Amino acid sequence: MFELNDKIALVSGAGQSVGEGIAKVLARQGAAVIVNDLHADRAERVAADIRAEGNRAVAAPFDVTDFDATESAVRAAESELGGRTAIIVNNAGVAEQRVTKPFRELDPQDWRAPIDLNIFGAMNCIKVVLDGMYEARWGRVIQISSGSARTGQNINQSMYATGKSGIEGFIRHLAAENGQYGITANIVALGLQKNLEEKMPPEMISRLLEGIPIGRLGDPEEVGAFCAYLASEEAGGMTGQTLDFNGGSQTR
Ligand SMILES: NC(=O)c1ccc[n+]([C@@H]2O[C@H](COP(=O)([O-])OP(=O)(O)OC[C@H]3O[C@@H](n4cnc5c(N)ncnc54)[C@H](O)[C@@H]3O)[C@@H](O)[C@H]2O)c1
Repeated sequence: MFELNDKIALVSGAGQSVGEGIAKVLARQGAAVIVNDLHADRAERVAADIRAEGNRAVAAPFDVTDFDATESAVRAAESELGGRTAIIVNNAGVAEQRVTKPFRELDPQDWRAPIDLNIFGAMNCIKVVLDGMYEARWGRVIQISSGSARTGQNINQSMYATGKSGIEGFIRHLAAENGQYGITANIVALGLQKNLEEKMPPEMISRLLEGIPIGRLGDPEEVGAFCAYLASEEAGGMTGQTLDFNGGSQTR
C-alpha cells in the first residue's frame, strides 16, 4: 500500500528540515523526486542522500517565487527523470527575508516576502505541473501550511499567517475545479516541528510542549509518511481537506 511507483514528485524547499523528510520518504515509497531548494548545496545534498539510499532524485535549485525559473527548472528535471510531475508538495514557506514583528511595527515593504513565497511561490509550482496532471488524469497536490492560518496568535507572524490562509483558500478551489480530472489537492497544517529546537531556547520549547498532547515536536519523516499517504493511489477519495498534523495541539 501507498506505493508511489516511479511517479515524479516535486518537493519545494526540500533542502533541509520538513521538506528533506518529505522528499526522502516519498523516494522510499518509490517516487522519483525533484528536490527543490533556493540553495543549490542543500538541494544537492538531499538528492545525493536519496540516491545513496538506492532511490531516485535530482536536485533542482530555483526560487519558487520566480515563475520562469520554476518552469525551466521543472521541465529540465522532468526530462532528466523521463516523465511529467504527478505529485507536488509545496513545502517552501519560510521566507528568508521575513521580518518578524507585530503588524503595527512592520513597514509595507515587509509584508511581501511571506505572502510572495506562500501564495505566489506555491501557485507557480502548481501552474507548471497542472497541465501534465490534467493530461494524465491523475495528480496529487499537497500544500504544507500551519495552524497559524486559522487562529490568531500573538507571535509576530501575521504576514506568514496571511500567506498560509491565502494559499489554503486557493487549494480548496483548486480541489473543487480538478477533482473531476483525478487530481486531488489537500492541505497539511503542521504544528511545531523539531527544527525549532535550533531556533528557540529550551525554556521556551518546554513551555510550548505543555500545549501539545503528544509531548514532543513534530518529526520531518512522520510528516513525510503522511504526505506519502496523501500522494498515493489509496488517498484518491480525499480532496479539499485541511488536515491538522500537530500532535493534538488545540491551539493549532
Ligand atoms: N518548523 C515548524 O515548526 C513549522 C510549523 C508549521 C508549519 N511549518 C511549515 O513547514 C514548511 C517547512 O518548514 P521548515 O521549518 O522545514 O523550513 P526551513 O526554513 O527549515 O526549510 C525550508 C527550506 O525552504 C527553502 N526556501 C526558502 N525560500 C525558498 C524559495 N523561495 N524557493 C525555494 N526554496 C526556498 C529554504 O532554503 C530552506 O532550505 C513551511 O511551509 C513552514 O511554513 C513549519
